Amino acid sequence: PRIPGPAPLPVLGNLLEMLRAPQETSIELTADYHARYGGIFALDIVGNRQIFASDHRLVAEMCSSPLWSKSVHDALEQIRDFGGDGLFTAYSEEPNWGRAHRLLMPAFGTMAMKDYFPQMLDIAEQLMVRWQRFGSDHTIDVAEDMTRLTLDTIALCAFNVRFNSFYSEKPHPFVGAMVRSLVEAGARPERLPGVQPFLVGTNRQYRTDIAAMQRITDDIVATRNGLPAEDQPDDLLQRMLTAADPLTGEKLSEENIRHQLVTFLVAGHETTSGLLSFATHQLLANPDVLARAREVVDEVLGNRTPRFEDLADLGYLGQILRETLRLHPTAPAFALTPSEPTTLGGHRITPDDSVMVILPVLHQDPEVWPQPQRFDPDRFAPDRMDRIPEYAWMPFGHGARACIGRPFALQEATLVLAMMLQRFDIALADPDYRMTISETLTIKPKDLTIKARARSAAP
Ligand code: HEM
Repeated sequence: PRIPGPAPLPVLGNLLEMLRAPQETSIELTADYHARYGGIFALDIVGNRQIFASDHRLVAEMCSSPLWSKSVHDALEQIRDFGGDGLFTAYSEEPNWGRAHRLLMPAFGTMAMKDYFPQMLDIAEQLMVRWQRFGSDHTIDVAEDMTRLTLDTIALCAFNVRFNSFYSEKPHPFVGAMVRSLVEAGARPERLPGVQPFLVGTNRQYRTDIAAMQRITDDIVATRNGLPAEDQPDDLLQRMLTAADPLTGEKLSEENIRHQLVTFLVAGHETTSGLLSFATHQLLANPDVLARAREVVDEVLGNRTPRFEDLADLGYLGQILRETLRLHPTAPAFALTPSEPTTLGGHRITPDDSVMVILPVLHQDPEVWPQPQRFDPDRFAPDRMDRIPEYAWMPFGHGARACIGRPFALQEATLVLAMMLQRFDIALADPDYRMTISETLTIKPKDLTIKARARSAAP
C-alpha cells in the first residue's frame, strides 16, 4: 500500500504547504503530520520523497533488523561542506568512518572519562565563579552560558585548548560561524532548484563561516605540531595525529583530521548545552524534582568539591537528564536506510529511501510512555528501567553510528547540574516565562533566563 501523506503538487511536491504551515519548528510540523497520518507518512520535497516513521513499533521494526543503518540524509549531506568525512557525516562504507571509529573509540571508554574529569571540573568552576561574581540580581542567559561551558569543555578535554569563553563578553567566534552554517545547511535542501546560485550574500556568508571554522581548527593543529614532543599532551587530538587503526594499521589523513576537529567541536558541545538548558528549565518547572535533586546533591557532596567517584552516587541526576532527553532530545531526529529492498509496516522501502525518526514523537508514544508529556525522572529509576522497551528511548541514535560522545555528555552534564544545585538557588528571571523552542539542527529553549543566588554553605 501507498505510504500515507498529503497529496503533492507538480514540481514543488508538498513544499508550499510546509512553508505555509503555522508551526514554528520542523519538529512541530512533522509531529503534526504524524498526528494526522499515523506512525508512517511521506512528504515530497521538490521531487525527493522523504519518509517519516516515528512510532515505537515501526522504529523497533527497523532498529531490530541488521538491514537498517544510518542514512546520511540531505541535511547531513550538506553538513559535509564542513564536516566532510568526519565521524558524524561520513558514509558508513567510507573507509575513513571505520578507521576513525576504531581509532577514537578508546577515547570514550570508562578510563578515559576519569581522565577528562579534572578538565570538566575546571570549566564548570568557571561557570560557578561567573554566576557568583555577577550576583543574584544578574540575569543569566542559560543557553548562552551553557554553550560557553560545553564548548570550552570539549576544546579543553579533546584538544587541550582554552577558548576562555567565560572571560569574554561575546561567545567564541566558532559559535556564530557554526550556528549560521548549520541553519544554512538545513535550509539548502528545501530551496527550489536553481535558486541557490542567486543567493549571493548567503553563499558568501556560508563560505566565510566555513573558512572561519577551518581556520580555528587549523590553528589548533598547527599549535600542537609546533610543540616539542615531550610537551605534547596525550589527548584526543594526539590520538588523531599519531594513533593507528588497530585493524588496518593506517593513520588518519591530514584532511580527515581537519574534518574530525570541526566535527568534534560541533557535535561535542551544541547538544550538551541544549540538554543542560532544558534540564534547568525542567527543574524550575518541577519544584519537587528540584528539591529531591538538591537533597541528593547535599547528601553526596555536602559542601566539598565534587570528585569523579561521586558521579556514581548522583544517579538521580542521571535520571533527570535521561527524562530531559526523552522530552527534549537535543538532536531531535536521525535517519535510517535499508541495505536492500524491504518493507516497513507493510510498505515497500528501497535503499534509495531515507526514513526519518522524529525523536520527540517516538519518546512520547503513548503505547510506551504513560502520561507522555509529564516530566517524571522516576521512569528511569534503576528498578523500573526494565519496563522501558528496547528502541523506545534513542536520543543518542542507533547501532554502530550511535553517539560516540554519550558517556562524555552525561558525565559533563551530571557534574554541572550537581554543582549548580550545590551552589545556587535558581529561579526564572521572568516568572511568566513560557518555554518555546529554537531549532537549528539541534534544539534549545528560547530566551530562557534565570537568576542564581549563591547558597551560604556552598564551597
Ligand atoms: C552521533 C546525539 C553529545 C560526538 C550522534 C547521534 C546522535 C547524537 C543522535 C547520531 C546521529 C545520526 O544518527 O545521524 C547526541 C546528544 C548529545 C551528544 C543528544 C548530548 C546530550 C556528543 C558529544 C560528542 C558527540 C559530547 C563528542 C565528545 C558525536 C559523534 C557522532 C555523534 C562524533 C557521530 C558518531 C558516528 O557516526 O560514528 N550524537 N550527542 N556527541 N555524536 Fe553525539
